Amino acid sequence: MKKYNWGILAPGKMSAKFAQGLKLLNNAVLYSVGSRDTGRAEKFASEFGFLKAYGSYEELAADDKTDIVYIASPHSHHHQHTLMCLRNGKNVICEKAFALNTRQVQEMIEEARKQNLFLMEALWPPFQPFYKKAHEILKSGILGEILHLHGWFSFQPPFDPADRKFNLLLGGGSLLDIGIYPVIDALTFIGVPDEINAFAIFSPSGSEESITVSFRYKSGKMADLYSSFKTNEGIGCKLLCEKGNMIVSRGRDMNQRVILEVHGKPVEEFVFRPEAMGYHWEAEEVMRCLDNNLRESPVVPLSFSLDLIRTLDRIREKAGIVFPGE
Ligand SMILES: NC(=O)c1ccc[n+]([C@@H]2O[C@H](COP(=O)([O-])OP(=O)(O)OC[C@H]3O[C@@H](n4cnc5c(N)ncnc54)[C@H](OP(=O)(O)O)[C@@H]3O)[C@@H](O)[C@H]2O)c1
Repeated sequence: MKKYNWGILAPGKMSAKFAQGLKLLNNAVLYSVGSRDTGRAEKFASEFGFLKAYGSYEELAADDKTDIVYIASPHSHHHQHTLMCLRNGKNVICEKAFALNTRQVQEMIEEARKQNLFLMEALWPPFQPFYKKAHEILKSGILGEILHLHGWFSFQPPFDPADRKFNLLLGGGSLLDIGIYPVIDALTFIGVPDEINAFAIFSPSGSEESITVSFRYKSGKMADLYSSFKTNEGIGCKLLCEKGNMIVSRGRDMNQRVILEVHGKPVEEFVFRPEAMGYHWEAEEVMRCLDNNLRESPVVPLSFSLDLIRTLDRIREKAGIVFPGE
């Protein structure tokens, strides 16, 4: 079994979860951590068992022994950090939102192709049991056609204008942080919408803090999506179909659930609770692709990431969400 040396760029909250996942994989070597601060890199490295700690991202990217870098800086920096890692010969898996806008994502993809390196957006749902179960049920035909999707994600972080969730300079706003999930649901289960409408409410720092979005499809299907830092609803979507409905959600208890309501039949519930919240499956996919000489993942292809960021751009335009410098 080929082993891969993993580097972590930006040891924040999400990197801690991802590192827990890496520990479950026999072919992943927890190799290096890069932080803007040497002390933070050392603390993270000793907590999770990484071999090297660097006090800058540049040093992390320059280490010839690193095979794959996982990037979990704020979205505002994904473009810059991904380009730097690719130009240093590293394969990259970068957190969502992949970048701030379509132009940035296109440049990242072009660079990966130019360097002949692997690149993937770290999208969590496609690897999870609740998503797989939902696909299986839809494929069985028991629900018929999807007619409407209602998707949501909200939680209540305390307002802090410096925090990446509220700071426009760091790509702040609920849409790119959590609203991206209902958008992923709609793209996955129905597709790219033909028409979009959106309304947002803004925080005192000017970042969007609640957004409601409507998708319309020429086929007659529709979706309504909502994300917010003001309410607390967890994450999920409800598919309203010809012959029944299905809820695909992760509750505040962290359990993944699929609730199947076929008209005229008893309700069925499927509950899943993967180890390390299932983050290791994304890392496993990167290494499976590299083992098979693939430069992108068939599970999360770069074409999906482009559809996603283009849709997010269209939503932002309708809702009046602009990042500094755009
Ligand atoms: N897939 C998921 O389920 C999931 C869940 C949560 C978050 N995420 C994504 O992961 C990324 C990071 O989120 P997080 O919650 O881990 O954020 P976080 O806890 O704030 O960590 C971000 C890290 O980025 C680094 N950083 C670099 N430049 C920075 C700057 N100018 N200001 C602040 N921090 C900066 C910091 O590390 P150093 O200063 O030590 O280098 C910081 O620890 C986001 O893109 C987010 O969307 C994904």
